Amino acid sequence: MSNENTDRVFLITGASSGIGAATARRAHEDGFRPVLAARSMERLEALAAELGGPKRTLAVRCDVSEWDQQQQMVEAALGAFGQIDLAFANAGFGGPRGFLKDTPEHWREMVLTNVYGAALTLRATIPALTESRGHLLLTSSVAGRRPLPGSMYSCTKHAVTAMGEAARQDLHGTGIRVTLIEPGMTDTPFFDNRPADALEDDDIARAVIYAVSQPAHVNVNEILVRPTAQAG
Ligand SMILES: NC(=O)c1ccc[n+]([C@@H]2O[C@H](COP(=O)([O-])OP(=O)(O)OC[C@H]3O[C@@H](n4cnc5c(N)ncnc54)[C@H](OP(=O)(O)O)[C@@H]3O)[C@@H](O)[C@H]2O)c1
Repeated sequence: MSNENTDRVFLITGASSGIGAATARRAHEDGFRPVLAARSMERLEALAAELGGPKRTLAVRCDVSEWDQQQQMVEAALGAFGQIDLAFANAGFGGPRGFLKDTPEHWREMVLTNVYGAALTLRATIPALTESRGHLLLTSSVAGRRPLPGSMYSCTKHAVTAMGEAARQDLHGTGIRVTLIEPGMTDTPFFDNRPADALEDDDIARAVIYAVSQPAHVNVNEILVRPTAQAG
């Protein structure tokens, strides 16, 4: 673990599953100290134990749609490790396509998690990232680059894509780098019916590690990764 990533603190929301958990595993392998945030504490604690326990990682309960919990997450990370070098706003979920298919209540949850939650993660971590001249990452999607028919989910991810570029411009001059991660179809519990010919969560984790392992003068702004078999 003696490389330049050693000990950098890497906060990840949505770390209890899929892309977030795979990124935490890769980050640990590369010498980062992951801070794992989500609502499912049992899963986070099991992952934290796998990744070396309290010296190397921290599990924090955080519903990203709650500002006080986001603030507590950042305070817990700073309390444990004294710094945050990378923040990955990754928590999110989808819903059925068709504007008459989903419920208004589910839309509300999705917007509050995917859009408001990501914005709160930015807001909560920017002071610590300014201190560390760190790196902010957001999980958008292929669905955040091209609209999908009747998809409110696609609308939320377009907002995240805009948020990444808005943050990049806002943070210019601070030394903070900003990266949008835009996965194509990836086989995770995101889907009730797991997809065939999809990416694996680790395929996206490797893209994240690529972005965060560049020299300080290189700002990888967007990475869009589709499975070879994906047409749209
Ligand atoms: N899979 C794909 O094909 C795909 C493609 C493009 C983009 N994405 C995006 O990738 C990100 C990760 O998804 P995934 O595929 O890895 O799915 P996943 O395995 O279902 O993981 C979703 C993660 O988000 C967390 N989460 C959901 N609501 C939350 C909330 N209110 N507060 C805190 N954490 C919350 C979940 O944890 P808890 O339930 O424990 O809170 C879980 O850790 C999402 O933003 C998704 O939109 C996925």
